[in-house]
Amino acid sequence: MSEPRHRSDMWKWQIAMRGHRRSNHATGEHRGRRSTWCLLTAIALLALFAATGQVAAQADNAFADRQLVAQLAHDLPGNITDNPRDPEFWRNLRRGSRGLTTIPDRKSDALIQSSGQRWRIFREQSLPRYGVWGLSGICVILALFFMIRGPILIETGYSGSSILRFGSLERFAHWLLALSFLVLAVSGVNMLYGSDVIKPLIGYVAFAKVTAYGKWLHDFTGYAFIAGLMLVLLVWVRDNIPNRDDLHWLARAGGLFSRGVHPPAHRFNAGQKITFWFVILAGASMSFSGICLLFPFTFSPFADTFAVINLFGLQLPTDLSPLQEMQLTHAWHAVLGIIMIVVIIAHIYLASVGMEGAFDGMASGYVDENWAREHHALWMAELNAEPSSDGVERPETPAHARWK
Ligand code: HEM
Repeated sequence: MSEPRHRSDMWKWQIAMRGHRRSNHATGEHRGRRSTWCLLTAIALLALFAATGQVAAQADNAFADRQLVAQLAHDLPGNITDNPRDPEFWRNLRRGSRGLTTIPDRKSDALIQSSGQRWRIFREQSLPRYGVWGLSGICVILALFFMIRGPILIETGYSGSSILRFGSLERFAHWLLALSFLVLAVSGVNMLYGSDVIKPLIGYVAFAKVTAYGKWLHDFTGYAFIAGLMLVLLVWVRDNIPNRDDLHWLARAGGLFSRGVHPPAHRFNAGQKITFWFVILAGASMSFSGICLLFPFTFSPFADTFAVINLFGLQLPTDLSPLQEMQLTHAWHAVLGIIMIVVIIAHIYLASVGMEGAFDGMASGYVDENWAREHHALWMAELNAEPSSDGVERPETPAHARWK
């Protein structure tokens, strides 16, 4: 529309222009609305595509997973079943079913070994709990015994003359065994209770050092213990063969619970013979299980032992995996170790504060004659029957002065 030539036409022109502009404006709005719709539709379509893609991808993954699981199940050792959901199949795996491996490492033929969980619970809960009961139990019993019975005194007092009870080889054998056992016992107990008892006292760093040295000592002292055990067996086996007099001694409980009662005994009484054979057998078993732990997966002591025990009608498992062998060996070593410590605490008590004059024999080799007559009357009688052949000077016992 061209501009008006006359001013009077101006208002028409202005109205027309306003209308023109208005119609232009209306067309822009319309276009904007259309593009917004397009955009929203595109976003919705994209979201729809994405969601569909996501569902499809999940379905694909699930399918692939199923295929993978099926493949794994197919390839599992033993190839028990193709169906991975078969509960029997998983039960067998949990029970330690084993397959075949083409590598020499026999440990890898079991996928799941639940016996490891049982062993861990035993190691962390049952073993320390029952161990504490055993160790504190024997201390309480000995303390009560000491309070009620007191030390077993030489009733006739020291005679002043002494006789040779243990030669130097016997004493060397005993102390080699005793000292090595004490090192093993202390370092072993530290492995079991150290982190609960010692670590809070001395801190992490010191405890780590102490325990590392203790473990090292434990490993090497084992050999000294084995040597001591063999020597002790050699020097004392003859005097520890049971005989009928031992039954008499046992029937009267060795006079331990009644003052003035001294059932006659040979060089070793029945109680000492029981201690001796216990130390020899338990010590041998501790030594062998220790060697099995030192050289892991080298021996399988339990399967063979169980096979022998089964001859007597029991049904113990004989198809044990290498890991189960190690777990059982460790459990046996720890339990027997605690039982040995309990027995040896009682032995140390009776051979020291519990019985007047007993320690001298293992310290100097000599014991007071009255002590020997009261506790080992048959041995004294045997010695008196023999002509004195040792030709050794018999000094007073070192304890003589102490107890007189
Ligand atoms: C500080 C610790 C120990 C002391 C004070 C001690 C003391 C003694 C004494 C005095 C005897 C001789 C008893 C007698 O004359 O009739 C003896 C014997 C014996 N000891 Fe020990 N001993 C100790 C540790 C050990 C250990 C750790 C073991 C073994 C692991 C052990 C095994 C034996 C055996 C087998 C006998 C011979 C049987 C018996 O008398 O019971 N001893 N001990």
